Amino acid sequence: MVIMDIFSIRNVQKEDRDWIKRWLVFQWGAEIVVSHDTVFHPSDLPGFVAVTPSSDEPLGLITYHFDGDDCEIVTLDSLREGIGIGAALIEAVKQHARNVGCKRLFLVTTNDNIYSLRFYQKRGFKMTKINVGATDRAREKKPEIPTVGYFGIPIHDEIELEYCLE
Ligand SMILES: CC(C)(COP(=O)(O)OP(=O)(O)OC[C@H]1O[C@@H](n2cnc3c(N)ncnc32)[C@H](O)[C@@H]1OP(=O)(O)O)[C@@H](O)C(=O)NCCC(=O)NCCS
Repeated sequence: MVIMDIFSIRNVQKEDRDWIKRWLVFQWGAEIVVSHDTVFHPSDLPGFVAVTPSSDEPLGLITYHFDGDDCEIVTLDSLREGIGIGAALIEAVKQHARNVGCKRLFLVTTNDNIYSLRFYQKRGFKMTKINVGATDRAREKKPEIPTVGYFGIPIHDEIELEYCLE
């Protein structure tokens, strides 16, 4: 799928695993992601990548995993914000999750991440849960998680957002 000749969206392939590991360290401080007390290795997960159509240079990445009727977005990052990459990656996962019969798409973000709370809610996601202290617990498994985030907000909790696919 090519969007406005600026980027196109394709599936993550086996050959992408190495740069995804480096990307995760750059974006999130380590190759692992810990959410709702679960450790994920996003470089082993399925996903979609936004790339430049001419040179396949990665501009955005979304990874996800299935659990029964649920599809969880594990990571989402855009390197060129504000041109629709994040929205297109979310749309790709929504479509795929629907096609395979998932009923619910969800994700967690941290209590400081005002930007992503805005982004997801404007795209139909609803806040469904606060996991109090979940990020403090995650930090025990992944010390790279900062203690202070956007706007100097102390990071302690996870906020779960979901989108109904039915
Ligand atoms: C959250 C995030 C993934 C959004 O990605 P993005 O590529 O900037 O997303 P989009 O471009 O689709 O949308 C961002 C904004 O730009 C606007 N936009 C989209 N296309 C645009 C265009 N062609 N021209 C101008 N603005 C545009 C959108 O309307 C949107 O604004 P809105 O939220 O007020 O509606 C990105 O900010 C990011 O990587 N954040 C850091 C990592 C992170 O927090 N990830 C989520 C963790 S759960």
